[in-house]
Amino acid sequence: MDNNQLKKPEGKLGVLVVGLGGAVSTTFVAGTLCVRKGEGEPIGSITQLATIRLGKREENRFPRIKDVVPLAELNDIVFGGWDIFEDNAYEGAVHAEVLKKEDLEKVKNELEAIKPMKAVFDQDFVKRLHGTWVKQEETRWDLMMAVREDIKNFKISNNCDRIVVIWCASTEIYLPMSDVHRDLGTLEAAMKNNSKDISPSMCYAYAAISEGVPFIMGAPNLCIDIPAMWQLSEKMNVPICGKDFKTGQTMMKTVLAPAFKTRMLGLNGWFSTNILGNRDGEVLDDPDSFKTKEVSKLSVIDTILQPDLYPMLYGNIYHKVRINYYPPRKDDKEGWDNIDIFGWLNYPMQLKVDFLCKDSILAAPLCLDLVLFSDLAKRCGFSGIQYWLSFYFKSPMHDESTIPEHDLFIQYIKLKNTLRKIIGEQTIDFLE
Ligand SMILES: NC(=O)c1ccc[n+]([C@@H]2O[C@H](COP(=O)([O-])OP(=O)(O)OC[C@H]3O[C@@H](n4cnc5c(N)ncnc54)[C@H](O)[C@@H]3O)[C@@H](O)[C@H]2O)c1
Repeated sequence: MDNNQLKKPEGKLGVLVVGLGGAVSTTFVAGTLCVRKGEGEPIGSITQLATIRLGKREENRFPRIKDVVPLAELNDIVFGGWDIFEDNAYEGAVHAEVLKKEDLEKVKNELEAIKPMKAVFDQDFVKRLHGTWVKQEETRWDLMMAVREDIKNFKISNNCDRIVVIWCASTEIYLPMSDVHRDLGTLEAAMKNNSKDISPSMCYAYAAISEGVPFIMGAPNLCIDIPAMWQLSEKMNVPICGKDFKTGQTMMKTVLAPAFKTRMLGLNGWFSTNILGNRDGEVLDDPDSFKTKEVSKLSVIDTILQPDLYPMLYGNIYHKVRINYYPPRKDDKEGWDNIDIFGWLNYPMQLKVDFLCKDSILAAPLCLDLVLFSDLAKRCGFSGIQYWLSFYFKSPMHDESTIPEHDLFIQYIKLKNTLRKIIGEQTIDFLE
């Protein structure tokens, strides 16, 4: 790209969060407000903390990304969004029980002022939730148009220069891709016919993209991962990215699997199980929602290990993923992995990982980075699927001719090289 075309981040950036009252959303919003008040550190955020090497190693140039890449300032962010419950962001955060009350108090006034707009919701898509703050328009198309109005009104009333929409709402039931999703015309017709092939998340995404607004899919929903949405985003010159934030167990998987592969160690079993007690865990307790998550979590290993090329090492892997709803743990997920590997002369070995994590604490910095990078991508004139943001996703979106990249470190190199290109610096191939 010609970096002279890059528009500076002037004015306010509106960040509209779908699922505003949820655990991830409120941890992201409250955390960002704390950081900008000097009341907390943005740990886990590449945009806020990471450095980037520029030029040759001996030049010793390692500036912070945010000092050389023109990203929006945290002070310029205005938050808003939608939820199926009327609770404001403070009430949502208290309910989510991720951040301590003493931390929420520091930004209580700001959080209370963030009230959700009515949601697009269909209970058939999230069976465990009973939404009460829901739009009543007749068809999917009308609902989508109502979301467009919300975006326009938010932009005007908050004096925003630009908007980004991020999905942090619940995982919808598994929706297989069908012919309806392959073409923009058929997708639009299905929306007008109020077809069940159109999920609520598709209504938000179509609305955002039509308004020229980048859209980020943080759940494993089909949503923008279809040719019709790729067409729309190219047509409207809008960057999109997804899907399913890569936070805990899958992040570890995409670190460990490349390690086995580079050392040519074999793998014959990977059993991953989780206990989780927040609302996300409750939603995923429904087999139809779990199926969406399962497909996303299972997709990782094959592309990293290439069993076609290495049948002896990876041709016969038993890979199982389980999520169990266990209320006492709330947002403190425990993810266990039992990994059966084998080495020299087929001798077996085992590796156990027990990750006692905080799901939303891991996800919040990803939300911040994705919002800031998507806004950057839009100002760069990028459109369609943002492959360079694969780093953040369990199931990085890709078109039908592209193979996804799952290896965390290759994804990171791609992210940083894209940033180097954006600011007119040499990309680095590590051959010096
Ligand atoms: N936390 C992580 O590490 C992580 C990682 C990957 C993906 N995710 C995904 O992020 C999403 C959010 O997770 P969470 O723990 O915050 O869940 P949550 O249940 O706490 O929050 C989801 C919110 O979305 C709202 N909602 C549901 N359907 C909606 C709709 N159609 N429109 C508007 N709002 C709607 C719910 O009312 C709720 O407030 C889930 O889909 C989860 O699978 C989380």
